[in-house]
Amino acid sequence: MLLLPDSFLICFGYSKDIPPEDLIMPTIAFVSPKGGVGKTTSAFLLASIFARLCEVTIIDADPNHPIETWALGGNAPEKLKIVSDVDEETIIDRIEDAASKTPIVIVDLEGTASKTVIYAISQADFVVIPTQGSQLDANEASRAIRVVLQSEKLTGKPKPYAVLLTRTSPMIRARGLTHIQNSLIAAGIPVLETELNERDAFKAVFAFRQTLDGLNPAEVSNLDKAKGNVESLAREILTKLQAHLQGEQGGRDREKTDNNSVAGAA
Ligand SMILES: Nc1ncnc2c1ncn2[C@@H]1O[C@H](COP(=O)(O)OP(=O)(O)O)[C@@H](O)[C@H]1O
Ligand SMILES: [Mg+2]
Repeated sequence: MLLLPDSFLICFGYSKDIPPEDLIMPTIAFVSPKGGVGKTTSAFLLASIFARLCEVTIIDADPNHPIETWALGGNAPEKLKIVSDVDEETIIDRIEDAASKTPIVIVDLEGTASKTVIYAISQADFVVIPTQGSQLDANEASRAIRVVLQSEKLTGKPKPYAVLLTRTSPMIRARGLTHIQNSLIAAGIPVLETELNERDAFKAVFAFRQTLDGLNPAEVSNLDKAKGNVESLAREILTKLQAHLQGEQGGRDREKTDNNSVAGAA
């Protein structure tokens, strides 16, 4: 089985050493019915970190097209393809088409529960549910999880997902956040260990229409820490995907457990 090197930045599709059955060529969707929780930011950051080495398509399915707007700055890396002409009629075809062309597909979705979101989840290998640390946001995350579980029922296949805590302080741990984190974990809901911290750099990429790598460290504070944060996130998501694929091979059935978990969390 493929081992992720510590640098993690391997391009699964291109290494001759990896047998085809072990290739991970994921479609990763960022979902939350709540706006402003960091879907676009985290989807974009992840895509641009992968695009250091791998061909990546980011599907900009938010009708406001924030990523297409970002690309107008002319700083999109060569390996990053942006597809933004998507709606509920075309999303499945766009994802399939992208997955046939680039090893990694990232889907940034709008903040409403729409058919587009449901179709995108149906195509995803991994669903990330960005959530800020308030009870209100955690409730929205539960709604997103229910949509993921519905998709599992429809397809009859487990759909790996995890909550990503966003905009957390790298310095202080707010008590409310710890409480939410603990109750999610107690309910059996997967929560990524890596959080996306609140960082100037994550705003600056959109303000300057740059990638993290293109930002000037003299102008943006803690740029290295910001990059390290996104690299950890990418590594953890890939590790989770790999674990899922191993689980699938072992024929493990996760659906029952997850259904029980969410029933317990509701
Ligand atoms: N980790 C972060 N650090 C700093 N600012 C952030 C972070 N995540 C999101 N933001 C800011 O919060 C706002 C909403 O984020 P966005 O990614 O557009 O959310 P969504 O796509 O869920 O609506 C944006 O102004 C963005 O710059
Ligand atoms: Mg968005």
